[in-house]
Amino acid sequence: MSSHQGVRDFYSGKNIFITGASGFLGICLLEKILRTIPEHGNIYLLLRPKRGKEIAERLEDIKKNQIFEVVLKEKSVEEVFSKVQAVAGDVGQENLGLSPAERKLLTDNVNVIIHSAATLDFGDTLKTTVDINLLGTRRIVQLAKECARLDVLVHVSSAYVNSYRLEAEEVIYPLKRDPDELVSLVGKLNPEELEEQTPGILADHPNTYTITKHMAEHEIQKAEELFPCTIVRPSMIIGAWKEPVPGWTISKNGPQGFLMGAAKGVIRRLPVGKELVYDYIPVDIVVNNLLAAGCFAGVTKPKKVAVFHCTSSTRNPFRWLQVEDKINDYLHLYPLKSAVWYPHLKLLPTVAWYKISALFVHMFPAFILDTVTRLSGGRPILVKLHRNVNTSLGRLEKFIFTEWKFTAKKTMDLQDWLTKEDQVDFSVDITTLVWLDYFTDLTLGARTYLSKEPLKTIAAAKKKDKILLALHLAWQVALFSLIWYLFACATGMTMSSSLFVLPICFILYNLL
Ligand SMILES: NC(=O)c1ccc[n+]([C@@H]2O[C@H](COP(=O)([O-])OP(=O)(O)OC[C@H]3O[C@@H](n4cnc5c(N)ncnc54)[C@H](OP(=O)(O)O)[C@@H]3O)[C@@H](O)[C@H]2O)c1
Repeated sequence: MSSHQGVRDFYSGKNIFITGASGFLGICLLEKILRTIPEHGNIYLLLRPKRGKEIAERLEDIKKNQIFEVVLKEKSVEEVFSKVQAVAGDVGQENLGLSPAERKLLTDNVNVIIHSAATLDFGDTLKTTVDINLLGTRRIVQLAKECARLDVLVHVSSAYVNSYRLEAEEVIYPLKRDPDELVSLVGKLNPEELEEQTPGILADHPNTYTITKHMAEHEIQKAEELFPCTIVRPSMIIGAWKEPVPGWTISKNGPQGFLMGAAKGVIRRLPVGKELVYDYIPVDIVVNNLLAAGCFAGVTKPKKVAVFHCTSSTRNPFRWLQVEDKINDYLHLYPLKSAVWYPHLKLLPTVAWYKISALFVHMFPAFILDTVTRLSGGRPILVKLHRNVNTSLGRLEKFIFTEWKFTAKKTMDLQDWLTKEDQVDFSVDITTLVWLDYFTDLTLGARTYLSKEPLKTIAAAKKKDKILLALHLAWQVALFSLIWYLFACATGMTMSSSLFVLPICFILYNLL
């Protein structure tokens, strides 16, 4: 038996300050605390006004998220959220944009800080990412220094802060550029100059996100002797494995987004290296890792920041090859009522191949469907959507076709360090995850939480799936017949003597 405090005991009575709680990871973290650590103290959520919504309204939106359905089966909204309080702020602003009164509220009371807020847009300018990811973290560290009763600071980083290395350990690697120099450069240059100089500034970093998140780790490290702190580095976060519901997600990034688009029949091709290891990690494991790491650092008070890789590549590697044959079965097991074309997803080995194929398989049908939508008075979106996908592919290509290995020895040791009960309730072990089963749940999760189609619509969706199959086959017959006819007209051959066109069409179509 471990003699130290368990995770639940550690957080009981503690006042917790969370940034990024409106995001994918943050809301899942909040849900887990509310559902499984009922004795938690006050929970302060840093929220910013957004899209015309003030923070009170944003907190109400958080409460209405489907993720809370499980905990709300047992308790009322008032009970569940009784100790949750929104605090107006913005990590991208001086002093975190806090009023003096709210800053005092936090510095007087907070015991645990979990800093998850960040901008994840790979296309964001250096100015924005420096403000939010680097300076935002510096401001959180400053706040932590002022907190009279701080037990631990938990920082959410990313495994890809070291994406310029193909193998990374759970250590903080040195920076190649001084963050203060970068901050002053960003302050001095005008937007055009900054954009022009950005590739040189990034050097071997693929984008502004990874460089600023790398620098943010160093901001945490500077405080390691002042109070216990820990860094958790997730890889690509995907839908829940087990909690609160298998497949839960609100993120459209990565596999869940592909599955959503594929189920609609809109995404039919995907560029992936089938044999490469893709480092995906379910969001509930990341949440457990944050809570377990915070407890570990808070209890053991290490002199150096404890870094944990929350990754799968070296513990339970995933390759698309493992699910390739099954994906289409899942799509037809859980079809969508809102599908616009018969779903069929095919994996292609290069971006160039994908682009050629997408022209015929994505753009052409999108153009037809958008025309139908326009004629029936609707708002066409498909051509625009595919254009956006094509644009973002350039930014993502490195991430699609590079295999990284993130060692996770310290995370495995963390699992061993947990009490027997916590090894189940706050497990960070993913070795028993079966990717095929996981993807079945994720397909259903994407259907329920992204496409917002409840289970009761499955029967109607299956009927529609059959109709779409018939239409898809009819479309292929019509298309091939048209090509056959046009070929015969163009060459002056008879239809029967030009019959060979059909198998050629079929072979070419299958290559796409
Ligand atoms: N998702 C992944 O695959 C992944 C992988 C590795 C690491 N991470 C890390 O995990 C953390 C959470 O990511 P996520 O997936 O939850 O992203 P997300 O869904 O985009 O959420 C980002 C959160 O940060 C908040 N935020 C952004 N800028 C802010 C600002 N200036 N002031 C205050 N709050 C701000 C957002 O608030 P608003 O709602 O107001 O925008 C939102 O709550 C990040 O630190 C990220 O680097 C994510």
